[in-house]
Amino acid sequence: MSESLDLAAFPADFTWGTATSAYQIEGAVAEDGRAPSIWDTFAHTPGRVDNDDHGDVACDHYHRWPEDIALMKRLGADAYRLSIAWPRVLPGGDGPVNAAGLDFYDRLVDGLLDAGITPNVTLYHWDLPQSLQDRGGWTVRETAEHLADYASVVAGRLGDRVTQWATLNEPLCSGWIGHLEGRMAPGLTDLTAAVRASYHLLLAHGLATRAVRAAVPGARIGLVTNHSTVEAASTRPEDIAAATRMDGHTNRWWLDPVYGRGFPTDMRELYGVDLPERPGDLAAIAAPLDWHGLNYYFPATVTDDPRGPVPYAREVRLPDVPRTGMDWQIDAGGLEALLLRLTDEYGVRKLYVTENGSAFADTVSPDGAVHDPDRARYLEQHVSACARAVRKGVPLAGYYAWSLLDNFEWAYGYDKRFGLVHVDYATQVRTVKTSGLRYAEIIRAHRESRA
Ligand code: IFM
Repeated sequence: MSESLDLAAFPADFTWGTATSAYQIEGAVAEDGRAPSIWDTFAHTPGRVDNDDHGDVACDHYHRWPEDIALMKRLGADAYRLSIAWPRVLPGGDGPVNAAGLDFYDRLVDGLLDAGITPNVTLYHWDLPQSLQDRGGWTVRETAEHLADYASVVAGRLGDRVTQWATLNEPLCSGWIGHLEGRMAPGLTDLTAAVRASYHLLLAHGLATRAVRAAVPGARIGLVTNHSTVEAASTRPEDIAAATRMDGHTNRWWLDPVYGRGFPTDMRELYGVDLPERPGDLAAIAAPLDWHGLNYYFPATVTDDPRGPVPYAREVRLPDVPRTGMDWQIDAGGLEALLLRLTDEYGVRKLYVTENGSAFADTVSPDGAVHDPDRARYLEQHVSACARAVRKGVPLAGYYAWSLLDNFEWAYGYDKRFGLVHVDYATQVRTVKTSGLRYAEIIRAHRESRA
């Protein structure tokens, strides 16, 4: 199973971590003053999520976090990327702070630091308070302003111990999948709403960056975006143009404004929706960052689809390529290419892979182990891609495996397992998979090589 990895490529202080998000693991949705988020509403709407699964209990991390920190320690991880549930901290989205909600993260951060694990805190991983959705959600500017206020509250409380901050996770998913494709909360299929939401999400990122910097001197702030390499399915000019549109939709729309280029003109014309711009917004969105987080899972190959939905480019399913249990094509070369692109085209000076991983149908064997060679191979291939990128000059500072635990995989519910650690949802028993053991070996080998 195991390939030899060029771990010497990684700098001595390279960070090895795991990642999760609040709604996917915490459970305890009605405890200690938490109010519903758009994901509670969405998941409890029949037919929205496979098996009508929801996050009410999830991995019960809200109560089992000490055990989960012990698992991170067992893997030997340096860092843990977690997200804060906005509806725990400000149940109404704005207004009164819920002290009990903040206390939970306070304990969690202390527990991590006691274990020698650095917290990397994401402020928004999709769980918008429902009360803000009722007032327009991401389609209105006020939501961006509320995110900045919420960021000040969280940073004010945790900033004496947390230095590593991310504003948003994957705004593409909130914007496009949540408002255009309808497959994620809030479940809209409305281009105007989606474009407005995408604008306000990026504005929220900029305003929250400012807020965290004001609250935490010395904070290191980044944005986490997800991307795919995009190729045309053929050399037909129509397919090549479709690939340019898909690249604009998936990559440039989310990166150009953050790196000072404004929103791409070709995509503005394609969407045909006026942006709710105000003077100063673009400068806020392009606030200089300390790092960029890349989430990478799969590449895309597209063909022209003039009658399909925006961006009139349809993904084609390549035959005979390896795939994960999500039916996502496995192509570690895409990770290397995107790391190079962020470095060369956007000038990013410090990068993390903030998510990368694979779902497969795991089972606990009679010997009590969870044998997942496919996931271990995926991990090795992508760590190798990172090593190649570093050798080519990419300033990659860390890699966070998605995910520490099997968890609530959004519209796919609990059937899709991404964890390095298996969770038996009936008993909440955790079992480190062989991929988790392999990750621990990689971390140990790198640590020994740098000692
Ligand atoms: O589970 C998600 C995560 O919440 C965001 N990035 C992709 C993962 C796998 O789909």
